[in-house]
Amino acid sequence: MDNGNSLKIKNGFTLWFTGLSGAGKTTITDIVEKQLRHEQVPIEVLDGDVVRTNLSKGLGFSREDRDTNVLRIGFVADLLTRNGVGVIVSAISPYKEARDEVRRNVGDFVEVFVDAPVEVCADRDVKGLYAKAYSGEIPEFTGVSDPYEAPAAPELHLHTDQEEAEESAQRVIEKLVELDYLERVQETSRA
Ligand code: ADX
Repeated sequence: MDNGNSLKIKNGFTLWFTGLSGAGKTTITDIVEKQLRHEQVPIEVLDGDVVRTNLSKGLGFSREDRDTNVLRIGFVADLLTRNGVGVIVSAISPYKEARDEVRRNVGDFVEVFVDAPVEVCADRDVKGLYAKAYSGEIPEFTGVSDPYEAPAAPELHLHTDQEEAEESAQRVIEKLVELDYLERVQETSRA
């Protein structure tokens, strides 16, 4: 991070993390957000869990409601992206069609598949939801009793059962540099 280079945003972008609950989307989002804020890159985060407490309040987990949620998030992401902001979205977003619609609308869309086998996510069970999903207490639970359509050609595919979150986050930043959304600039020498 502090190697004499700093990062500068060249163009707004939507960095879209998709994957199962517990795959690591929020953990990686937090690291990337923190680093980019540290570099004074304008960033906004749209997290499914948070959005569902306001913009998508009242929506459930049917396909229709999930698609509505994803398209709403995409709408806001587009507004911000076209104003030069780096947007980080963290949402299961299980349906390919809705994700692809957002991709078409936003244009500057970087899809990151945060991938871990459902057994690993269930084992982590950070929020205690998998136990409830397997017992049937929570119906329509993604990966257990509801589908997850993996992206066919994401810009980046992270295997969070095989690498540390910090490593994944650095790969995300590298991808943004490679795609020309961020650039490394030499820090002017300090007096
Ligand atoms: S999405 O499918 O519409 O993209 P989103 O990411 O906003 O989902 O919300 C998922 C979060 O809702 C999960 O992290 C979990 O905390 C909670 N949740 C509650 N019920 C379910 C369910 N049936 N399937 C998946 N997640 C659920």
